[in-house]
Amino acid sequence: MKILFFDTKPYDREAFDSTLGEFENVEITYLDAEINPQTARLAKGYDAVCLFVAADVCENTLAALGECGVKLVLMRCAGFNNVNMDAAKKFGITVMRVPSYSPEAISEHALALAFAVNRHIHKAYIKVRENNFSLMGLTGMNFYGKTAGIIGTGKIGASMCRACHGLGMKVIAYDKYPNPSLDFVTYLPLDEVLSKSDLISLHCPLTDETYHMIDFSAIEKMKDNVILINTSRGALIDTNDLIRGIRAHKFAGVGLDVYEEEGDFVFENLEDDILSSSVTARLLSFPNVIVTSHQGFFTKEALAAISRTTLENAVSFERGAPIKENIVI
Ligand SMILES: NC(=O)c1ccc[n+]([C@@H]2O[C@H](COP(=O)([O-])OP(=O)(O)OC[C@H]3O[C@@H](n4cnc5c(N)ncnc54)[C@H](O)[C@@H]3O)[C@@H](O)[C@H]2O)c1
Repeated sequence: MKILFFDTKPYDREAFDSTLGEFENVEITYLDAEINPQTARLAKGYDAVCLFVAADVCENTLAALGECGVKLVLMRCAGFNNVNMDAAKKFGITVMRVPSYSPEAISEHALALAFAVNRHIHKAYIKVRENNFSLMGLTGMNFYGKTAGIIGTGKIGASMCRACHGLGMKVIAYDKYPNPSLDFVTYLPLDEVLSKSDLISLHCPLTDETYHMIDFSAIEKMKDNVILINTSRGALIDTNDLIRGIRAHKFAGVGLDVYEEEGDFVFENLEDDILSSSVTARLLSFPNVIVTSHQGFFTKEALAAISRTTLENAVSFERGAPIKENIVI
């Protein structure tokens, strides 16, 4: 099976190269280029393409892949909200993903953001490097004894619930389908989770229903000095409303691994460029906001699991028995 990988970085190649030996008859070609309707044509002669989370897998791209004879899109990630599912169906292309690789990779990053904004680690690091040993502006709160509100308690949210429970926090949650294994969690309606939590962490997928679920009216319901963490998808939060809430001094801290406009920047080094978006620039200007560039998944364990499952997906498809739970469409 010949697979053309788009938008690869050295760390992708390293992870896949070290797993490839376990799979016979799989050939990989790595490209730096992102996929679009033009570059998709490079896939002529390949059985599958492998794409990452920010790839814009629109109808025209899928049409071009279909014309090239590609039958399989392998998403080397869990999320697939950028894939036009109707178009994939129309062009007879199967889409497979890696639904679970290491929930702890993401929940630990959510915690890292929560700790960092709470104790102002981003500011303390810079201050001490500048010989400023003053503690002014660095007051945080104990998480112990406080309430964590987890929105979405699937694989990652459940891991976050366990971590917060381990810290001695009371854990409340909102999910359309409560997770019965989390017997220490109290499920409540969304509004109550918003109004009772000291730390709110988002872990539900982006759907029509969850789009902008955190808008200004949701922010108004939150406690003053709440900490808000989003490692799920940027568009769960209405960024303009978030900025309004930050300006109204609602938040002790905001930690974002994902944000609405990340598609334009994510995984790229733009240090010599001028940001085209004033919304992201405004977000980056607040002292109580930490933004990371979609790195929740980025641990050695997660990369190894992603490459193994992606290649298992490829081989299972070629054998005519694609792994059912990994098929998106
Ligand atoms: N930052 C990263 O690097 C990174 C990596 C992987 C996944 N993610 C994000 O994390 C999200 C969660 O991943 P997961 O593996 O835990 O998914 P999952 O499918 O195991 O869990 C999602 C949970 O959300 C719940 N849910 C669905 N719709 C809801 C709604 N309207 N309101 C409340 N809850 C709802 C589901 O019932 C489920 O329990 C993914 O959708 C993805 O967007 C981010």
